[in-house]
Amino acid sequence: MSATIMYGNLLANQIREEIKAEVEALKQSSVHPKLTVLIIGHNPASKTYVRMKQKACEKVGIVSQVIELEEDISEEELLYQIEKLNKDTNVHGILVQLPLPNHINEDRVLEFINPNKDVDGFHPINIGRMQIGQDALIPCTPLGIMKLLEFYRVETKGKHAVVVGRSNIVGKPIGQLLLNQDATVTYCHSKTENLSDITKQADILIVATGKANTIQAADVKVGATIVDVGNTFLEHGGVIGDVDFEAVKEKVERITPVPKGVGPMTITMLLHNTIKVASHFKQ
Ligand code: GUN
Repeated sequence: MSATIMYGNLLANQIREEIKAEVEALKQSSVHPKLTVLIIGHNPASKTYVRMKQKACEKVGIVSQVIELEEDISEEELLYQIEKLNKDTNVHGILVQLPLPNHINEDRVLEFINPNKDVDGFHPINIGRMQIGQDALIPCTPLGIMKLLEFYRVETKGKHAVVVGRSNIVGKPIGQLLLNQDATVTYCHSKTENLSDITKQADILIVATGKANTIQAADVKVGATIVDVGNTFLEHGGVIGDVDFEAVKEKVERITPVPKGVGPMTITMLLHNTIKVASHFKQ
């Protein structure tokens, strides 16, 4: 069988063109979409991610502001900075880059962001809204995966979706979104016994463990759809996913590559969420 490779970069480029046009239209209505990112300390990976987000904004015409704060900033000071952005009607999206320094309570910070500007979709109000199927700001990676499944016409209704990984950012919300789309969902995680017995039953397998080669050819069903959320950076350059792509692709109907799979969709959904907020500011 020759699998369809689900290229997120192609869909991401298409959506970014649409977003660019929407930004233009918003500007005609005097709304200048703006994303503000708060970065605390000097984590090199965080700096790279923030730079990528900034560049993506600029390419579609979204104003991007990065506020760099010192590693030893107090929690109160950080909350004060967020409060200013919550009140600033020129700021549509607020994103606090994670991880935060150990002395800062991440839950408290994320809950302090105005849920209607929470473009990461991490606020408990947005998680709750998503859970009960209300309109919500949805976390970027799961939203990107759903767009990718829709683009490649993957049927979810009645299908068995297995999610490997239970993070708040990816695993839990993607399972919820698939459930909202009438899939039958099973969650697996690091304590799951007989993982392979379960993944082999999946019509749709979402792998978000962050561990290279979690899933081999023997762990998948013939004809399944595989979404690989992993991105492990190799010492000598390059990046690989959580799935043994070369072996698995011989057995399945569809699979995302790494790179050029889920990754490009994530930042695209950040732009999407920012525009979604900004469009509410239109008169
Ligand atoms: N750090 C790693 N991934 C993310 C993300 O999606 N959002 C934020 N805010 N921080 C991150």
